[in-house]
Amino acid sequence: MKMFMRPLVASLAVLALAACEGSAGTAGSAGAKGDTGAAGVAGAKGDKGDKGDTGAAGVAGAKGDKGDKGDTGAAGVAGAKGDTGAAGAAGAKGDKGDTGAAGAAGAKGDKGDTGATGAKGDKGETGASGAKGDAGQDWPGPAPAAYLAADGIKGGVAYSEWYATGAGGKGSLANANVTAGAEFVRCKTCHGWDGLGNAGSYANRTGISTGEATRADVSDVNLRATVASASYQDLYDLIESTWGRPINAANDSRHPAFAGHLEPAQIWNIVKFMREEWVDPNELYDLAIVGAPLHYEDVAGVWTLKKPTLTFTNLGKDGDAVAGKTLYAAKCAGCHNSDGKLVLLEKGTMTLGQFVRGKPHEAWFKIKFGQGAVMLPGLVTATSDLKNLYKAMADTTAYPNL
Ligand code: HEC
Ligand code: HEC
Repeated sequence: MKMFMRPLVASLAVLALAACEGSAGTAGSAGAKGDTGAAGVAGAKGDKGDKGDTGAAGVAGAKGDKGDKGDTGAAGVAGAKGDTGAAGAAGAKGDKGDTGAAGAAGAKGDKGDTGATGAKGDKGETGASGAKGDAGQDWPGPAPAAYLAADGIKGGVAYSEWYATGAGGKGSLANANVTAGAEFVRCKTCHGWDGLGNAGSYANRTGISTGEATRADVSDVNLRATVASASYQDLYDLIESTWGRPINAANDSRHPAFAGHLEPAQIWNIVKFMREEWVDPNELYDLAIVGAPLHYEDVAGVWTLKKPTLTFTNLGKDGDAVAGKTLYAAKCAGCHNSDGKLVLLEKGTMTLGQFVRGKPHEAWFKIKFGQGAVMLPGLVTATSDLKNLYKAMADTTAYPNL
Protein backbone atom coordinates (compact mmCIF):
# COMPACT_ATOMS: atom_id res chain seq x y z
CA MET A 1 0.00 0.00 0.00
CA LYS A 2 2.87 2.38 0.74
CA MET A 3 4.02 1.88 -2.85
CA PHE A 4 0.79 3.49 -4.08
CA MET A 5 0.80 6.36 -1.61
CA ARG A 6 4.07 7.87 -2.58
CA PRO A 7 3.12 9.01 -6.12
CA LEU A 8 -0.11 10.50 -4.82
CA VAL A 9 1.66 12.79 -2.34
CA ALA A 10 4.09 13.84 -5.06
CA SER A 11 1.36 14.93 -7.47
CA LEU A 12 -0.33 17.00 -4.79
CA ALA A 13 2.91 18.84 -4.24
CA VAL A 14 3.18 19.64 -7.97
CA LEU A 15 -0.35 20.97 -8.00
CA ALA A 16 0.28 23.32 -5.09
CA LEU A 17 3.45 24.67 -6.76
CA ALA A 18 1.58 25.50 -9.97
CA ALA A 19 -1.13 27.47 -8.16
CA CYS A 20 1.40 29.67 -6.52
CA GLU A 21 2.87 30.79 -9.74
CA GLY A 22 -0.45 31.37 -11.66
CA SER A 23 -2.01 34.68 -11.50
CA ALA A 24 -5.67 34.68 -11.19
CA GLY A 25 -5.97 31.46 -13.01
CA THR A 26 -9.29 29.76 -13.05
CA ALA A 27 -9.89 27.10 -10.59
CA GLY A 28 -9.18 23.70 -11.91
CA SER A 29 -12.29 21.75 -12.60
CA ALA A 30 -13.10 19.03 -10.16
CA GLY A 31 -11.41 15.70 -10.83
CA ALA A 32 -13.67 13.19 -12.47
CA LYS A 33 -15.20 10.84 -10.15
CA GLY A 34 -13.23 7.60 -9.94
CA ASP A 35 -14.61 4.69 -11.90
CA THR A 36 -16.68 2.30 -9.96
CA GLY A 37 -14.60 -0.67 -8.85
CA ALA A 38 -15.30 -3.75 -10.86
CA ALA A 39 -17.68 -6.09 -9.16
CA GLY A 40 -15.96 -8.88 -7.30
CA VAL A 41 -15.98 -12.19 -8.92
CA ALA A 42 -19.01 -14.08 -7.81
CA GLY A 43 -18.31 -16.95 -5.45
CA ALA A 44 -15.30 -15.68 -3.59
CA LYS A 45 -15.81 -12.84 -1.36
CA GLY A 46 -15.12 -9.82 -3.31
CA ASP A 47 -11.89 -7.94 -2.51
CA LYS A 48 -12.22 -4.51 -1.21
CA GLY A 49 -12.53 -2.18 -4.16
CA ASP A 50 -9.43 -0.13 -5.04
CA LYS A 51 -9.43 3.44 -4.12
CA GLY A 52 -10.51 5.52 -7.08
CA ASP A 53 -7.80 7.31 -9.13
CA THR A 54 -7.13 10.89 -8.36
CA GLY A 55 -8.76 13.16 -10.86
CA ALA A 56 -6.43 14.54 -13.55
CA ALA A 57 -4.98 17.98 -12.83
CA GLY A 58 -6.91 20.84 -14.36
CA VAL A 59 -5.49 22.34 -17.61
CA ALA A 60 -3.76 25.61 -17.00
CA GLY A 61 -5.89 28.70 -17.98
CA ALA A 62 -4.73 31.02 -20.75
CA LYS A 63 -2.79 34.05 -19.66
CA GLY A 64 -5.39 36.71 -18.64
CA ASP A 65 -5.09 40.33 -18.38
CA LYS A 66 -3.13 41.52 -15.69
CA GLY A 67 -5.69 41.93 -13.17
CA ASP A 68 -5.71 41.74 -9.69
CA LYS A 69 -3.74 39.21 -8.24
CA GLY A 70 -5.93 36.19 -8.54
CA ASP A 71 -6.96 34.12 -5.74
CA THR A 72 -5.14 31.06 -5.14
CA GLY A 73 -6.84 28.21 -7.00
CA ALA A 74 -8.65 25.76 -4.93
CA ALA A 75 -7.03 22.52 -4.49
CA GLY A 76 -8.40 19.80 -6.71
CA VAL A 77 -10.99 17.69 -5.02
CA ALA A 78 -9.73 14.31 -4.11
CA GLY A 79 -11.33 11.50 -6.13
CA ALA A 80 -14.13 9.80 -4.31
CA LYS A 81 -13.34 6.62 -2.88
CA GLY A 82 -14.38 3.77 -5.25
CA ASP A 83 -17.55 1.94 -4.35
CA THR A 84 -17.17 -1.16 -2.44
CA GLY A 85 -17.43 -4.11 -4.82
CA ALA A 86 -20.77 -5.85 -4.63
CA ALA A 87 -20.72 -8.90 -2.60
CA GLY A 88 -20.25 -11.96 -4.73
CA ALA A 89 -23.37 -14.00 -5.22
CA ALA A 90 -23.62 -16.97 -2.94
CA GLY A 91 -22.12 -19.99 -4.53
CA ALA A 92 -24.65 -22.36 -5.95
CA LYS A 93 -25.56 -25.25 -3.73
CA GLY A 94 -23.23 -28.06 -4.49
CA ASP A 95 -24.60 -31.13 -6.25
CA LYS A 96 -25.80 -33.94 -4.05
CA GLY A 97 -22.89 -36.18 -3.26
CA ASP A 98 -22.83 -39.70 -4.67
CA THR A 99 -24.22 -42.42 -2.44
CA GLY A 100 -21.41 -43.68 -0.22
CA ALA A 101 -20.26 -47.20 -0.55
CA ALA A 102 -21.90 -49.59 1.97
CA GLY A 103 -20.09 -49.62 5.30
CA ALA A 104 -18.21 -52.68 6.35
CA ALA A 105 -20.16 -55.10 8.58
CA GLY A 106 -20.05 -54.15 12.31
CA ALA A 107 -17.96 -56.18 14.70
CA LYS A 108 -19.76 -59.03 16.59
CA GLY A 109 -21.66 -57.71 19.69
CA ASP A 110 -20.77 -58.61 23.27
CA LYS A 111 -22.27 -61.75 24.84
CA GLY A 112 -25.80 -61.07 26.33
CA ASP A 113 -26.63 -61.38 30.07
CA THR A 114 -27.68 -64.77 31.43
CA GLY A 115 -31.49 -65.18 31.15
CA ALA A 116 -33.83 -65.58 34.17
CA THR A 117 -34.48 -69.12 35.54
CA GLY A 118 -37.14 -70.90 33.51
CA ALA A 119 -40.56 -71.88 34.93
CA LYS A 120 -40.96 -75.28 36.62
CA GLY A 121 -41.54 -78.09 34.19
CA ASP A 122 -44.85 -79.97 33.94
CA LYS A 123 -45.63 -82.76 36.38
CA GLY A 124 -44.34 -86.09 35.17
CA GLU A 125 -46.76 -88.79 34.16
CA THR A 126 -48.08 -91.23 36.69
CA GLY A 127 -45.81 -94.24 36.98
CA ALA A 128 -47.02 -97.69 36.24
CA SER A 129 -48.63 -99.68 39.07
CA GLY A 130 -46.16 -101.63 41.16
CA ALA A 131 -46.09 -105.37 41.07
CA LYS A 132 -48.42 -107.19 43.42
CA GLY A 133 -46.84 -107.77 46.83
CA ASP A 134 -46.13 -111.14 48.32
CA ALA A 135 -48.97 -112.91 50.04
CA GLY A 136 -49.26 -111.78 53.66
CA GLN A 137 -49.09 -114.09 56.61
CA ASP A 138 -52.22 -114.77 58.63
CA TRP A 139 -52.18 -112.62 61.76
CA PRO A 140 -50.65 -113.20 64.27
CA GLY A 141 -48.40 -115.57 62.33
CA PRO A 142 -47.38 -119.12 63.22
CA ALA A 143 -47.86 -120.09 66.86
CA PRO A 144 -44.68 -120.85 68.83
CA ALA A 145 -44.15 -124.49 69.79
CA ALA A 146 -44.64 -123.64 73.48
CA TYR A 147 -48.06 -122.22 72.65
CA LEU A 148 -49.06 -125.30 70.65
CA ALA A 149 -48.08 -127.51 73.60
CA ALA A 150 -49.98 -125.33 76.10
CA ASP A 151 -53.27 -126.24 77.84
CA GLY A 152 -55.90 -123.51 77.55
CA ILE A 153 -58.22 -125.07 80.15
CA LYS A 154 -55.38 -125.18 82.65
CA GLY A 155 -54.67 -121.59 81.65
CA GLY A 156 -58.22 -120.65 82.64
CA VAL A 157 -57.68 -122.26 86.03
CA ALA A 158 -54.49 -120.21 86.38
CA TYR A 159 -56.34 -117.00 85.47
CA SER A 160 -58.37 -117.60 88.63
CA GLU A 161 -55.75 -119.19 90.92
CA TRP A 162 -52.38 -119.63 89.21
CA TYR A 163 -50.74 -120.94 92.41
CA ALA A 164 -53.20 -123.91 92.68
CA THR A 165 -51.84 -127.34 91.80
CA GLY A 166 -54.61 -127.80 89.24
CA ALA A 167 -53.21 -124.72 87.45
CA GLY A 168 -49.65 -126.11 87.42
CA GLY A 169 -48.73 -123.99 90.44
CA LYS A 170 -46.86 -124.87 93.61
CA GLY A 171 -50.03 -125.39 95.64
CA SER A 172 -50.03 -122.17 97.67
CA LEU A 173 -48.98 -118.55 97.59
CA ALA A 174 -46.39 -119.26 100.27
CA ASN A 175 -44.83 -121.95 98.08
CA ALA A 176 -44.72 -119.41 95.26
CA ASN A 177 -42.93 -116.91 97.57
CA VAL A 178 -45.86 -114.53 97.49
CA THR A 179 -46.67 -112.61 100.64
CA ALA A 180 -49.19 -110.18 99.12
CA GLY A 181 -52.75 -111.40 99.63
CA ALA A 182 -54.38 -113.58 96.95
CA GLU A 183 -56.65 -110.70 95.92
CA PHE A 184 -53.57 -108.72 94.92
CA VAL A 185 -52.17 -111.41 92.63
CA ARG A 186 -55.18 -113.21 91.06
CA CYS A 187 -55.72 -112.14 87.48
CA LYS A 188 -59.48 -112.14 87.78
CA THR A 189 -59.48 -109.77 90.78
CA CYS A 190 -58.07 -106.94 88.71
CA HIS A 191 -59.31 -107.87 85.24
CA GLY A 192 -62.67 -109.50 85.90
CA TRP A 193 -63.89 -112.90 84.74
CA ASP A 194 -64.75 -111.34 81.43
CA GLY A 195 -61.41 -109.50 81.07
CA LEU A 196 -63.20 -106.19 80.55
CA GLY A 197 -62.02 -104.70 83.85
CA ASN A 198 -64.12 -101.85 85.19
CA ALA A 199 -65.96 -101.55 81.89
CA GLY A 200 -67.55 -104.99 82.27
CA SER A 201 -69.16 -107.05 85.01
CA TYR A 202 -66.77 -105.63 87.62
CA ALA A 203 -67.87 -102.07 86.95
CA ASN A 204 -69.36 -101.71 90.43
CA ARG A 205 -66.76 -103.73 92.32
CA THR A 206 -64.85 -101.99 95.10
CA GLY A 207 -61.11 -102.19 95.83
CA ILE A 208 -58.53 -100.59 98.12
CA SER A 209 -59.32 -97.08 96.96
CA THR A 210 -63.11 -97.49 97.25
CA GLY A 211 -63.58 -99.09 100.63
CA GLU A 212 -62.46 -102.73 100.20
CA ALA A 213 -59.10 -103.00 101.96
CA THR A 214 -58.37 -106.64 101.18
CA ARG A 215 -58.40 -106.52 97.37
CA ALA A 216 -56.93 -104.53 94.54
CA ASP A 217 -58.87 -102.03 92.46
CA VAL A 218 -60.31 -103.29 89.21
CA SER A 219 -58.15 -102.30 86.24
CA ASP A 220 -59.38 -100.12 83.41
CA VAL A 221 -57.52 -102.21 80.85
CA ASN A 222 -59.60 -104.15 78.31
CA LEU A 223 -57.74 -107.47 78.01
CA ARG A 224 -60.04 -108.69 75.23
CA ALA A 225 -58.77 -105.81 73.11
CA THR A 226 -55.18 -106.64 74.08
CA VAL A 227 -55.66 -110.24 72.97
CA ALA A 228 -57.06 -109.07 69.66
CA SER A 229 -54.02 -106.95 68.90
CA ALA A 230 -51.02 -108.59 70.57
CA SER A 231 -48.87 -111.33 69.07
CA TYR A 232 -48.35 -114.60 70.96
CA GLN A 233 -45.03 -113.44 72.34
CA ASP A 234 -46.30 -109.94 73.16
CA LEU A 235 -49.11 -111.41 75.21
CA TYR A 236 -46.66 -113.70 77.01
CA ASP A 237 -44.38 -110.75 77.78
CA LEU A 238 -47.25 -108.60 79.02
CA ILE A 239 -48.32 -111.27 81.47
CA GLU A 240 -44.79 -112.08 82.65
CA SER A 241 -44.31 -108.33 82.92
CA THR A 242 -40.73 -107.81 83.99
CA TRP A 243 -41.91 -104.17 84.07
CA GLY A 244 -44.68 -104.87 86.57
CA ARG A 245 -44.85 -103.80 90.20
CA PRO A 246 -42.87 -105.91 92.74
CA ILE A 247 -45.28 -108.79 93.21
CA ASN A 248 -45.20 -108.46 97.00
CA ALA A 249 -45.71 -104.70 97.14
CA ALA A 250 -48.44 -104.17 99.69
CA ASN A 251 -51.79 -102.77 98.63
CA ASP A 252 -50.67 -102.08 95.07
CA SER A 253 -53.25 -102.38 92.30
CA ARG A 254 -50.80 -102.31 89.40
CA HIS A 255 -50.05 -105.43 87.37
CA PRO A 256 -47.57 -107.59 89.32
CA ALA A 257 -44.24 -108.71 87.87
CA PHE A 258 -44.97 -112.42 87.54
CA ALA A 259 -41.55 -113.33 86.19
CA GLY A 260 -40.07 -115.89 88.57
CA HIS A 261 -43.43 -116.66 90.18
CA LEU A 262 -45.39 -118.00 87.22
CA GLU A 263 -43.67 -120.85 85.34
CA PRO A 264 -43.20 -120.21 81.60
CA ALA A 265 -45.53 -123.15 80.84
CA GLN A 266 -48.19 -121.57 83.04
CA ILE A 267 -47.89 -118.28 81.20
CA TRP A 268 -48.26 -120.06 77.85
CA ASN A 269 -51.34 -121.83 79.26
CA ILE A 270 -52.81 -118.45 80.18
CA VAL A 271 -51.99 -117.06 76.72
CA LYS A 272 -53.82 -120.01 75.16
CA PHE A 273 -56.77 -119.59 77.51
CA MET A 274 -57.06 -115.93 76.59
CA ARG A 275 -56.86 -116.62 72.86
CA GLU A 276 -58.92 -119.79 72.60
CA GLU A 277 -60.94 -120.65 75.70
CA TRP A 278 -62.10 -117.29 76.97
CA VAL A 279 -65.86 -117.25 76.40
CA ASP A 280 -67.28 -114.06 74.95
CA PRO A 281 -69.82 -113.01 77.62
CA ASN A 282 -71.95 -111.33 74.98
CA GLU A 283 -72.85 -114.80 73.71
CA LEU A 284 -74.32 -115.76 77.07
CA TYR A 285 -76.20 -112.65 78.27
CA ASP A 286 -76.74 -108.93 77.90
CA LEU A 287 -75.20 -106.61 80.45
CA ALA A 288 -76.49 -103.09 80.96
CA ILE A 289 -74.34 -100.72 83.04
CA VAL A 290 -76.17 -97.58 84.10
CA GLY A 291 -74.48 -94.65 85.79
CA ALA A 292 -71.02 -93.13 85.97
CA PRO A 293 -68.03 -95.37 86.80
CA LEU A 294 -67.28 -96.02 90.46
CA HIS A 295 -66.48 -92.69 92.14
CA TYR A 296 -66.96 -90.58 95.26
CA GLU A 297 -69.33 -87.67 95.31
CA ASP A 298 -70.19 -84.88 97.76
CA VAL A 299 -73.81 -85.62 98.69
CA ALA A 300 -75.10 -82.93 101.06
CA GLY A 301 -71.67 -82.52 102.58
CA VAL A 302 -71.01 -86.25 102.89
CA TRP A 303 -68.32 -87.91 100.76
CA THR A 304 -70.36 -90.75 99.23
CA LEU A 305 -69.35 -93.70 97.02
CA LYS A 306 -71.41 -93.88 93.82
CA LYS A 307 -71.64 -97.12 91.86
CA PRO A 308 -73.15 -97.83 88.47
CA THR A 309 -76.08 -100.26 88.40
CA LEU A 310 -75.58 -103.57 86.60
CA THR A 311 -78.41 -105.57 85.05
CA PHE A 312 -77.99 -108.98 83.40
CA THR A 313 -80.76 -109.95 80.99
CA ASN A 314 -81.46 -112.29 78.09
CA LEU A 315 -79.78 -115.27 79.77
CA GLY A 316 -78.69 -117.98 77.33
CA LYS A 317 -79.67 -115.75 74.42
CA ASP A 318 -80.68 -117.95 71.46
CA GLY A 319 -79.69 -121.16 73.31
CA ASP A 320 -81.82 -124.29 73.52
CA ALA A 321 -83.47 -124.72 76.97
CA VAL A 322 -84.46 -128.33 76.38
CA ALA A 323 -80.92 -129.31 75.37
CA GLY A 324 -79.71 -127.41 78.42
CA LYS A 325 -81.95 -129.38 80.76
CA THR A 326 -80.75 -132.62 79.26
CA LEU A 327 -77.15 -131.55 79.73
CA TYR A 328 -77.83 -130.54 83.31
CA ALA A 329 -79.42 -133.86 84.10
CA ALA A 330 -76.44 -135.66 82.67
CA LYS A 331 -73.58 -133.62 84.10
CA CYS A 332 -74.72 -131.61 87.11
CA ALA A 333 -77.69 -133.17 88.85
CA GLY A 334 -75.52 -135.91 90.36
CA CYS A 335 -73.89 -133.43 92.73
CA HIS A 336 -76.31 -130.45 92.69
CA ASN A 337 -79.61 -132.42 92.52
CA SER A 338 -82.22 -131.84 89.79
CA ASP A 339 -83.45 -128.57 91.30
CA GLY A 340 -79.95 -127.22 92.05
CA LYS A 341 -80.66 -126.90 95.75
CA LEU A 342 -78.44 -129.60 97.15
CA VAL A 343 -75.17 -127.65 97.29
CA LEU A 344 -75.87 -124.19 98.59
CA LEU A 345 -73.46 -121.60 97.33
CA GLU A 346 -72.07 -118.25 98.47
CA LYS A 347 -71.90 -119.30 102.07
CA GLY A 348 -75.28 -120.98 101.99
CA THR A 349 -77.17 -118.03 100.56
CA MET A 350 -77.84 -119.24 97.00
CA THR A 351 -79.17 -122.24 95.09
CA LEU A 352 -77.41 -123.10 91.85
CA GLY A 353 -80.24 -121.49 89.81
CA GLN A 354 -79.94 -118.36 91.88
CA PHE A 355 -76.16 -118.22 91.34
CA VAL A 356 -76.40 -118.64 87.59
CA ARG A 357 -79.08 -115.94 87.30
CA GLY A 358 -77.46 -113.53 89.76
CA LYS A 359 -73.82 -113.98 88.71
CA PRO A 360 -73.87 -115.12 85.10
CA HIS A 361 -70.49 -113.39 84.53
CA GLU A 362 -68.87 -115.84 86.99
CA ALA A 363 -70.96 -119.04 86.69
CA TRP A 364 -69.78 -119.96 83.17
CA PHE A 365 -66.14 -119.62 84.32
CA LYS A 366 -66.68 -122.06 87.18
CA ILE A 367 -68.62 -124.51 85.03
CA LYS A 368 -65.86 -124.51 82.39
CA PHE A 369 -62.76 -124.25 84.59
CA GLY A 370 -63.96 -125.90 87.81
CA GLN A 371 -64.35 -124.85 91.37
CA GLY A 372 -62.56 -126.11 94.44
CA ALA A 373 -61.40 -129.66 94.82
CA VAL A 374 -64.67 -131.36 93.87
CA MET A 375 -65.97 -129.73 90.69
CA LEU A 376 -63.23 -130.34 88.15
CA PRO A 377 -62.21 -128.21 85.17
CA GLY A 378 -63.46 -129.05 81.69
CA LEU A 379 -66.93 -130.26 82.74
CA VAL A 380 -68.57 -128.23 80.00
CA THR A 381 -66.35 -126.39 77.52
CA ALA A 382 -68.36 -125.57 74.36
CA THR A 383 -69.95 -122.13 74.38
CA SER A 384 -73.08 -123.58 72.73
CA ASP A 385 -73.49 -125.98 75.67
CA LEU A 386 -73.03 -123.15 78.16
CA LYS A 387 -75.69 -121.18 76.32
CA ASN A 388 -78.13 -124.06 76.49
CA LEU A 389 -77.46 -124.48 80.21
CA TYR A 390 -78.03 -120.76 80.84
CA LYS A 391 -81.20 -120.83 78.80
CA ALA A 392 -82.49 -123.77 80.87
CA MET A 393 -81.49 -122.27 84.21
CA ALA A 394 -83.31 -119.02 83.52
CA ASP A 395 -86.34 -121.06 84.52
CA THR A 396 -87.04 -120.28 88.19
CA THR A 397 -89.57 -123.06 88.50
CA ALA A 398 -87.21 -125.84 87.47
CA TYR A 399 -84.26 -124.23 89.29
CA PRO A 400 -85.82 -122.21 92.12
CA ASN A 401 -84.34 -119.74 94.53
CA LEU A 402 -83.96 -120.60 98.19
C1 HEC B 1 -53.28 -106.21 91.23
C2 HEC B 1 -53.97 -106.11 89.99
C3 HEC B 1 -53.58 -106.99 88.85
C4 HEC B 1 -53.34 -108.34 88.85
C5 HEC B 1 -53.39 -109.29 90.01
C6 HEC B 1 -53.07 -108.70 87.49
N1 HEC B 1 -53.11 -107.61 86.70
FE1 HEC B 1 -52.78 -107.55 84.73
N2 HEC B 1 -52.84 -105.57 84.77
C7 HEC B 1 -53.22 -104.80 85.84
C8 HEC B 1 -53.18 -103.42 85.49
C9 HEC B 1 -53.57 -102.26 86.38
C10 HEC B 1 -52.72 -103.38 84.17
C11 HEC B 1 -52.46 -102.15 83.34
C12 HEC B 1 -51.00 -101.83 83.41
C13 HEC B 1 -50.62 -101.39 84.80
O1 HEC B 1 -51.20 -100.43 85.31
O2 HEC B 1 -49.79 -102.06 85.39
C14 HEC B 1 -52.53 -104.75 83.76
C15 HEC B 1 -52.08 -105.12 82.52
C16 HEC B 1 -52.16 -106.42 82.05
C17 HEC B 1 -51.91 -106.81 80.70
C18 HEC B 1 -51.49 -105.88 79.58
C19 HEC B 1 -52.69 -105.16 79.03
C20 HEC B 1 -52.31 -104.15 78.02
O3 HEC B 1 -53.07 -104.02 77.03
O4 HEC B 1 -51.31 -103.47 78.21
C21 HEC B 1 -52.12 -108.14 80.60
C22 HEC B 1 -52.05 -109.01 79.37
C23 HEC B 1 -52.49 -108.58 81.92
N3 HEC B 1 -52.49 -107.52 82.79
C24 HEC B 1 -52.79 -109.89 82.25
C25 HEC B 1 -52.84 -110.33 83.55
C26 HEC B 1 -52.84 -111.72 83.92
C27 HEC B 1 -52.90 -112.89 82.96
C28 HEC B 1 -52.79 -111.75 85.27
C29 HEC B 1 -52.68 -112.94 86.16
C30 HEC B 1 -51.62 -113.87 85.89
C31 HEC B 1 -52.83 -110.38 85.73
N4 HEC B 1 -52.84 -109.55 84.67
C32 HEC B 1 -52.84 -109.97 87.05
C33 HEC B 1 -53.58 -105.23 87.08
C34 HEC B 1 -53.43 -106.56 87.49
C1 HEC C 1 -68.70 -133.80 91.32
C2 HEC C 1 -69.70 -132.94 91.86
C3 HEC C 1 -70.13 -131.79 91.01
C4 HEC C 1 -70.56 -131.77 89.75
C5 HEC C 1 -70.66 -132.93 88.76
C6 HEC C 1 -70.94 -130.45 89.47
N1 HEC C 1 -70.71 -129.63 90.54
FE1 HEC C 1 -70.97 -127.65 90.62
N2 HEC C 1 -70.25 -127.64 92.48
C7 HEC C 1 -69.91 -128.72 93.22
C8 HEC C 1 -69.51 -128.33 94.54
C9 HEC C 1 -69.10 -129.21 95.66
C10 HEC C 1 -69.55 -126.92 94.53
C11 HEC C 1 -69.20 -125.98 95.65
C12 HEC C 1 -67.71 -125.74 95.56
C13 HEC C 1 -67.20 -124.74 96.54
O1 HEC C 1 -67.97 -123.87 96.96
O2 HEC C 1 -66.00 -124.79 96.77
C14 HEC C 1 -70.05 -126.55 93.25
C15 HEC C 1 -70.20 -125.22 92.86
C16 HEC C 1 -70.78 -124.83 91.66
C17 HEC C 1 -71.01 -123.49 91.28
C18 HEC C 1 -70.70 -122.22 92.11
C19 HEC C 1 -69.23 -121.86 92.10
C20 HEC C 1 -68.92 -120.79 93.16
O3 HEC C 1 -68.03 -119.97 92.84
O4 HEC C 1 -69.48 -120.77 94.21
C21 HEC C 1 -71.62 -123.51 90.08
C22 HEC C 1 -72.07 -122.31 89.24
C23 HEC C 1 -71.75 -124.89 89.72
N3 HEC C 1 -71.20 -125.66 90.68
C24 HEC C 1 -72.35 -125.31 88.56
C25 HEC C 1 -72.34 -126.63 88.14
C26 HEC C 1 -72.91 -127.07 86.88
C27 HEC C 1 -73.66 -126.19 85.90
C28 HEC C 1 -72.65 -128.38 86.78
C29 HEC C 1 -72.96 -129.25 85.63
C30 HEC C 1 -72.45 -128.88 84.33
C31 HEC C 1 -71.91 -128.74 88.00
N4 HEC C 1 -71.78 -127.70 88.80
C32 HEC C 1 -71.46 -130.01 88.24
C33 HEC C 1 -69.94 -130.03 92.80
C34 HEC C 1 -70.24 -130.44 91.50
